[in-house]
Amino acid sequence: MSKKMTVGIIGGGNMGTAIAAGIWNAYDVYVCEKDKKREALLRRKYSVKTVDIASLVKNCKVLVLAVKPQNIDEVLDLMNGRVGQDKILISVVAGITSAFLEKRLGGKVRVIRAMPNLPAQIREGITGISKGQHAKPHDLKVGALILGNIGQTVVVDEKLINAITAVSGSGPAYVFLFLENLVNSAVALGLSKDMSMKLSMQTIKGSISLIEKTKQCPSLLREQVTSKGGTTQAALDVFAEHRFDKIFCSAVKAAEKRAKELARN
Ligand SMILES: NC(=O)c1ccc[n+]([C@@H]2O[C@H](COP(=O)([O-])OP(=O)(O)OC[C@H]3O[C@@H](n4cnc5c(N)ncnc54)[C@H](OP(=O)(O)O)[C@@H]3O)[C@@H](O)[C@H]2O)c1
Repeated sequence: MSKKMTVGIIGGGNMGTAIAAGIWNAYDVYVCEKDKKREALLRRKYSVKTVDIASLVKNCKVLVLAVKPQNIDEVLDLMNGRVGQDKILISVVAGITSAFLEKRLGGKVRVIRAMPNLPAQIREGITGISKGQHAKPHDLKVGALILGNIGQTVVVDEKLINAITAVSGSGPAYVFLFLENLVNSAVALGLSKDMSMKLSMQTIKGSISLIEKTKQCPSLLREQVTSKGGTTQAALDVFAEHRFDKIFCSAVKAAEKRAKELARN
């Protein structure tokens, strides 16, 4: 019999698959997935056991909820009364609070709420983790250990999960938008699409690596690129004129506001 900790993933879609791919070597992984093709793929690629929700809950010490918010009610109905205090429930479902899960599942369920992001698919994600009222501090460690297999983790108070959603949850889209615009601007200047993509991607990658390696703050490094009256200054003046800082701040605030509106408490 395997001595590995049992982890059951409910919903083997994008995020569920990313988690399965990250943990299948280290844990005994069970998956419950509606789509039979996906289920077969998960079995083949990651040697997971595919089961129904009842067997998954029965067999696993840690349960990971990874269905879309619109499917949460049907899943909770099937789980209600089955999740004892010996289990840890990790939910990555956007907008579903730990209080909501505790209420719907009855008893004192140990809930860890997490907000991962898209680069989790290549184990380069970052996940905000918080604990519900019945989870123990050790449960947070277990959550961080499991989700650490898809990237980095940060522990926050649950009231900050909406902020995490706005920053790192939605964040990849801001980076892709920035990249798209740099590429389009490069093409408009006469560079080929391929070369524009190559120049823009490596500029972003190289700049991030520079921050990581030098440990200097971005504003200092920005000043290093910017000589008075030079080309970078000309570009930054246009950003300043259009209040890029305000636009950016309003956009991230709008994401946080929307996360609050969509929340089920
Ligand atoms: N993707 C991300 O980058 C990301 C980031 C942060 C958080 N999240 C959260 O992660 C959750 C999953 O997102 P996702 O992008 O992975 O969605 P997804 O690809 O649609 O995956 C959800 C999977 O769950 C399956 N499912 C639905 N109801 C089920 C049930 N009753 N029993 C078993 N499986 C069921 C779905 O099957 P069908 O398609 O057949 O219904 C689907 O394969 C969401 O709550 C989202 O908020 C995702």
